[in-house]
Amino acid sequence: MCLRLLFLSTLSFYLFSTDILYVTRSARISSAVEVNISFQENHVVMSNGIIEMTLTNPEGHLTGIQYNGIENLLEVLNDETNRGYWDVVWSPPESSGTKGTSCEVILETEDRVELSFSRTWDSSLEGKLVPLKIDKRYIMLRGSSGFYTYAIYEHLEEWPSFNLDNTRVAFKLRKDKFHYMANSDDRRKDMPLPDDRLPGRGEELAYPEAVLLVNPVESEFKGEVDDKYQYAIELKDLRVHGWICMDPPVGFWQITPSNEFRVGGPIKSELNSHVGPTTLAVFASTHYGGSDLVIKFGESEPWKKVFGPIFIYLNTVTDDEDPQTLWDDAKSQMSNEVQSWPYDFVESDDFQTTHQRGSVSGRLLVQDWFVNDEDYMPASGAYVGLAPPGDVGSWQRECKKYQFWTEADEEGYFSIPNILTDEYNLYAWVPGFIGDYRNSTIINITSGANIDMGDLVYEPPRDGPTLWEIGFPDRSAAEFYIPDPDPKYANSFLLKDPNRFRQYGLWDRYSKLYPGDDLVYTVGESDHTEDFFFAHVLRKTNNDTYEKTTWTIKFSLPNVNESEKYTLRVALASAHQSDLQVRVNDLNEVPLFLTGKIGGDNAIARHGIHGLYWLLNIEIPGIYLYSNGENSIYLTQVNNQSRFQGVMYDYIRLEAPHTSVININS
Ligand SMILES: *[C@@H]1O[C@H](CO)[C@@H](O)[C@H](O)[C@H]1NC(C)=O
Ligand SMILES: *[C@@H]1O[C@H](CO)[C@@H](O)[C@H](O)[C@H]1NC(C)=O
Ligand SMILES: *[C@@H]1O[C@H](CO)[C@@H](O)[C@H](O)[C@H]1NC(C)=O
Ligand SMILES: *[C@@H]1O[C@H](CO)[C@@H](O)[C@H](O)[C@H]1NC(C)=O
Ligand SMILES: *[C@@H]1O[C@H](CO)[C@@H](O)[C@H](O)[C@H]1NC(C)=O
Ligand SMILES: *[C@@H]1O[C@H](CO)[C@@H](O)[C@H](O)[C@H]1NC(C)=O
Repeated sequence: MCLRLLFLSTLSFYLFSTDILYVTRSARISSAVEVNISFQENHVVMSNGIIEMTLTNPEGHLTGIQYNGIENLLEVLNDETNRGYWDVVWSPPESSGTKGTSCEVILETEDRVELSFSRTWDSSLEGKLVPLKIDKRYIMLRGSSGFYTYAIYEHLEEWPSFNLDNTRVAFKLRKDKFHYMANSDDRRKDMPLPDDRLPGRGEELAYPEAVLLVNPVESEFKGEVDDKYQYAIELKDLRVHGWICMDPPVGFWQITPSNEFRVGGPIKSELNSHVGPTTLAVFASTHYGGSDLVIKFGESEPWKKVFGPIFIYLNTVTDDEDPQTLWDDAKSQMSNEVQSWPYDFVESDDFQTTHQRGSVSGRLLVQDWFVNDEDYMPASGAYVGLAPPGDVGSWQRECKKYQFWTEADEEGYFSIPNILTDEYNLYAWVPGFIGDYRNSTIINITSGANIDMGDLVYEPPRDGPTLWEIGFPDRSAAEFYIPDPDPKYANSFLLKDPNRFRQYGLWDRYSKLYPGDDLVYTVGESDHTEDFFFAHVLRKTNNDTYEKTTWTIKFSLPNVNESEKYTLRVALASAHQSDLQVRVNDLNEVPLFLTGKIGGDNAIARHGIHGLYWLLNIEIPGIYLYSNGENSIYLTQVNNQSRFQGVMYDYIRLEAPHTSVININS
């Protein structure tokens, strides 16, 4: 790569050999060809000699991308509105219409073109069109092998209330060309055709997204399950994904250089690319979060947000190179884009440049006297973020504004650059410790501000010494027992860690392992990696009903003080329409604690290993416990209207009373 860059600066006529087509950023300056726009009837075409893109005028649907000798990378069999488009899923449902839509050239120079397709709203459109002003932008740079897109959404104070469920930009590629998909190093492969999902070739499984390929066009996919949720990924890792066409070699990649405009924090999971061939950039959705992540606008609620820019990157290799290396090149292009963030070529005052933004740094320490009673411990690998002011943990459900996250180093130091001017709270959580840190001081980011928070101390919830614990507190159920799938639904690319939990149908494996009696975990004897199923699901009966299950944790305590209180901490990694009830030593008693109906993250059905995080702190009066005898804690998930109800545990711990001084090694 370096060699090619060198060539480029000295030998600019090399630019149009395919060998260096994908050298973008450094190539811009020396590119011989200007960016141009031409208006045709109902269409506008942008070109920089490397790619040419065609958009409908005035709607701004992307209908064509010409690159590397391919007339159109987008699915030409689809209608022009269904190839490359921004969309908004909202309620009430939207009817189509182009009223008030206009196309405007925001900037046109030899080096850069920015187009706007915008649409506003007025009361005559009430109930028909989402009450938002939407300004979609496309940017093409000279010498760049791709284009940028972003959008500015605005809701004026006087406009009606509405709910926004999902918004994204979608690209539908040609199915005759793009057959290889890459979402991460461990999930990239040849993919089935969209036709394979249709009746006759595919059989719908428990829900429409999951299809068993029974008679695919290419026999290698026979017996595979295709489900877009098997490719979901946490936002912090969702940086680059896309498709490769082998002949001629072309990569189509969606690069997201920043998560600032995404919602729900760094470990919210999201879709990316899937059979279609489709590539998505999802900016807001309820995936793995549920209705808490629907963006709800009340009366008189002004709002404005910039989604993006994201970069669509196209690359190629020479005939003697392996087209699969396009993935490696896409990853290095992604690093370049991340380093260029925030972009300096965006023509909107709503997108702040680097010197209009501010930064925050500091060090996070943990104080947990049970683990270390002398010193503060560094919050190694903590997730630290700025999000709008709110309650402890509120960033998980925050979906209107911007969030800025980083991971602290081993010593707990963190530094967050390029924060948009606004007011924030600082939030964090630390792998290895339960709960959430929030600093209640309002942090006011102003342009050029560089705020050093100094040493911050997180004191995780703790009343007394740990009597026993199950699992590792990190908001995921990955450390527990993950079964092999039913061979009928096994996908070979998911057979190994870290993807084993993504297999289809694991929820029914519980009933195979525990056909009669439910799971019993005996403290001191059981091993959580073997004896603790990763999801507390329902039991499938012979007559296809799903019934509640009760898990038992058995343990003995040497000395119980009946007049003291013990604390049970139950950290959940996920909950879906569950009611978790806790009883101690008597399964027939009314529950000591119950959650009531909680959760809607649907992580069980969608092959997740977590959704949203819940921390339950449950007091157990000493009179409930037996001294020197066997105690049982019963965990019952009672809701069984659908087979996907249940919880995933992150971590469970019993704490002795805070006054007790016990020998923890006994
Ligand atoms: C725009 O650029 C393309 C590629 O360099 C060129 O083929 C085309 O003629 C140009 N169009 C106009 C209107 O300048
Ligand atoms: C934050 O800074 C802005 C700009 O200086 C100022 O207008 C605003 O009042 C400040 N907010 C707080 C809470 O200090
Ligand atoms: C919150 O941050 C301020 C400013 O850095 C600091 O003085 C304070 O101790 C912090 N509070 C907590 C609870 O860490
Ligand atoms: C279904 O089977 C379970 C046991 O497998 C039984 O307890 C239940 O009553 C059956 N339900 C119906 C509706 O037959
Ligand atoms: C829920 O459990 C009850 C009691 O076992 C059973 O009768 C019912 O059929 C179950 N519901 C479903 C939808 O499986
Ligand atoms: C039990 O707890 C009570 C209340 O904290 C305390 O007064 C009492 O001394 C404790 N008993 C024993 C045996 O530790």
